Amino acid sequence: MKIAIGNDHTAVELKKHITKHLEAKGYTVVDLGADTDEPSDYPLFGEKIGKAVASGECDLGVAICGTGIGISLAANKIKGIRAAVCSEPYSARLTRQHNNANIIAFGARVVTTEMAEKIVDEFLNAEFEGGRHQRRVDMISEIEKNN
Ligand code: RB5
Repeated sequence: MKIAIGNDHTAVELKKHITKHLEAKGYTVVDLGADTDEPSDYPLFGEKIGKAVASGECDLGVAICGTGIGISLAANKIKGIRAAVCSEPYSARLTRQHNNANIIAFGARVVTTEMAEKIVDEFLNAEFEGGRHQRRVDMISEIEKNN
């Protein structure tokens, strides 16, 4: 499975850690930056991750900024993207199972490294359950289509 990962300046170290963590589990990780602590703009990276996932180049995405919020807002502007900010593993699992989220976002200033690992693991190990959840996800797509 191919995972797009991206971040702003607040999350370079955490991104590197999570990349190694995922590669050790056999995932192919596509690193879309940022690579330095120089101030950078999270919308650029949210857009890149969103496009990589929406185009099918990557299966799922991981987006990290200070809070996870800004980068997820940017990613969610790409059609077909459902990026969810999670600060604990339960929501990370549920957003995959129920919302069919295709990007998990979290904050480098919010979660510990250990918590970030748990969030990513729960997200990637979960599967969309379909059924009644499909209808609701389709409703979200309709909103996107109509606005
Ligand atoms: C950068 O200072 C910070 O605003 C950014 O990383 C993020 O938290 C925005 O949502």
